[in-house]
Amino acid sequence: MKKNILITGASGFIGSFLVKEAIKRDYQSFAGVRNESIRKYLIDPAIHFLELDFSNDHLLDAALTKFSEQYERFDYIIHTAGLTKALHNAEFDKVNFENTRRFIHSLQRTGLVPDKFVYISSLASYGPANNGAPIQSSKIREPLTAYGRSKLKAEEYLYTISGFPFLIINPTAVYGPRDKDFFFLLKSISNHLELYIGNDQQKLSFVHVSDLVDAVFLAMESELHHQNLLVSDLKVYTSKEVNQLIKHHLNKRTLSIIVPPSVAEIVATISEGIGKLRGKVPVLNRERLKEFKALNWSVDCSEMAALGYQPQYDLDKGLKDAIAWYKEHGWMK
Ligand SMILES: NC(=O)c1ccc[n+]([C@@H]2O[C@H](COP(=O)([O-])OP(=O)(O)OC[C@H]3O[C@@H](n4cnc5c(N)ncnc54)[C@H](OP(=O)(O)O)[C@@H]3O)[C@@H](O)[C@H]2O)c1
Repeated sequence: MKKNILITGASGFIGSFLVKEAIKRDYQSFAGVRNESIRKYLIDPAIHFLELDFSNDHLLDAALTKFSEQYERFDYIIHTAGLTKALHNAEFDKVNFENTRRFIHSLQRTGLVPDKFVYISSLASYGPANNGAPIQSSKIREPLTAYGRSKLKAEEYLYTISGFPFLIINPTAVYGPRDKDFFFLLKSISNHLELYIGNDQQKLSFVHVSDLVDAVFLAMESELHHQNLLVSDLKVYTSKEVNQLIKHHLNKRTLSIIVPPSVAEIVATISEGIGKLRGKVPVLNRERLKEFKALNWSVDCSEMAALGYQPQYDLDKGLKDAIAWYKEHGWMK
């Protein structure tokens, strides 16, 4: 009998890769989507779709009850659905915390608590390191943004539920084919512009989406539960090194500008205002700026390494892979 796995947020960047891996690992795979979700990366005929409206208790209970009548139970759930950008900060809380709580309540009411519930949180729920050392899972939580706080709230809620078998994954910045955030950085370099905020020695960490997917399945299939696992590619890069690598792979020369934080603050405020008028979240806003300014996002992944996690991509190899995909799919020349 195949094990049943549900991946929520399946239509998104990370979720679609998790679904692909679940099928590869021979799980009976359920893609949790919304009615309006774009499903262009979910074309494998082996995928079962489960429409879930996390904002409505009755619809959620009905969808889960219907599932249980046909398939009985979930062995695993990976809750990837989440909001990473919003025009108004209150939206983060609604999606990342309240929807997660409502989903768990519904699983409890419908008798569908899985063997393990993996919550995809973020390094943002920790906030940056406040000394030179990498962020550890035991670090005092100091999220800088409403996004980070909403993720932390969901994590704290998980720790309060008695007997609920959860595991929390805190990935650093994830990149790879199909990712739109990192793509923006590539576009900027491609347009010969190398921008820094404050200085070019910020310590950064990254993880390629295929390594994150490996880490998630490794952790999910392990005995671990009731803990946080930080995930990166085990390396640290300065912002200067990141841009050098991108320049090398794109074969571009750039104009390098270090923007003073006070100037960046003005630009972020203006672009936030324009974004609100247009109904679009700008790449630079005051919330994101707090993260761009932080000096140290390096990560200690010793818990994942102890599980045998061995990332296959450093940024050099990962960028090559991502750029090849962007070019092949006409995102860049
Ligand atoms: N990308 C990163 O660098 C990164 C780093 C750390 C953690 N994470 C976390 O990883 C998860 C996935 O991120 P991603 O980069 O793959 O983002 P993404 O491409 O924007 O995907 C987000 C997914 O969540 C779903 N979703 C959003 N709001 C929802 C709602 N109200 N109800 C139901 N589903 C909703 C989206 O569904 P629709 O397609 O219907 O909109 C989509 O499937 C998020 O929880 C994020 O916090 C991401």
